[in-house]
Amino acid sequence: MKVIFDTDPGVDDAMALYYALAHPSIEVVGITTVFGNVTVTQATANALYLCGLTQCDAIPVAAGAARPLHKTPEAPPAHIHGSDGLGNLPQRDSVIGFAVEKDAADFLIAQVRANPHAITLVAVGPLTNLATALARDTTWAALVQRVVIMGGAVSVPGNVTATAEANIWNDPHAAQLVFEAPWQVDVVSLDVTHQVIMPAQLFERLAQRQPHAAMQTLNHAVQFYARYYSQRHADTVGKMHGCFGHDVLAFMALTDPALFQTLDTRLGVTTAGPEEGRTVQLTEGPARHTIYTSVDSAGCVKAFEATLAANWLG
Ligand code: BDR
Ligand code: CA
Repeated sequence: MKVIFDTDPGVDDAMALYYALAHPSIEVVGITTVFGNVTVTQATANALYLCGLTQCDAIPVAAGAARPLHKTPEAPPAHIHGSDGLGNLPQRDSVIGFAVEKDAADFLIAQVRANPHAITLVAVGPLTNLATALARDTTWAALVQRVVIMGGAVSVPGNVTATAEANIWNDPHAAQLVFEAPWQVDVVSLDVTHQVIMPAQLFERLAQRQPHAAMQTLNHAVQFYARYYSQRHADTVGKMHGCFGHDVLAFMALTDPALFQTLDTRLGVTTAGPEEGRTVQLTEGPARHTIYTSVDSAGCVKAFEATLAANWLG
């Protein structure tokens, strides 16, 4: 599977990127960055850094949107991901990388046009880059093989407000454009990501097993992130000291579909008012969205560890 990863790294984004790089059936052919967990400048620096650490610096990284389409941007959640997006790393190795000249939306359009019906988009941040590409090229959507997003909360509460999940909250207008576009979207939402707790110890084990800068970096970031989640969800996540894997489940939906149950439906987004950012099931129109309704949590954790523990770092 050739994938372009649209991301705001971000700790769970880093987890997802390393899962994708480690997985034998995924080829990451490009990364596009977006504001969200951090500024887009920091997200781009983090994507380049994470790739540099794994000697995957040949993967092109294109910088994307710095702010939402219409709403007033909010400060990044430094208390969740750290002010650097990677759990406040004490230092960084000197890994130098540069983003490509094209911005994210132009990069997405060019790559998909050069590889029609061959590229899957995995988008795990605010959907601003995808929405911008849809606006710039109105026939582009039909050439994308598949779209998987991490975002939304369909039958469960949100994580920013009572009804809104962070990626949709950060740019509800972009999410609405992505849901309305003429393509099928797989929506990996909090309905399943809140069912999968990644134990913090798992990352310690991985870092001990592979004393490589990439795994040390991921472990540092996850330990920071797990402190937040263990406190916020003391009765569930806190009991085993861990965190939600959120973004990595978007890749697991591709690599391990048997771990999930899904439902074909149609979603819309509330773009204003007290329920701003809510993903709503619509009763009219063709079913163009596959929502993920349940997941084999233990199976996900096991598959994640097996993939990261394999010999992918050389
Ligand atoms: C989503 O929001 C971000 O903070 C995470 O990286 C994930 O993409 C979870 O709501
Ligand atoms: Ca993310």
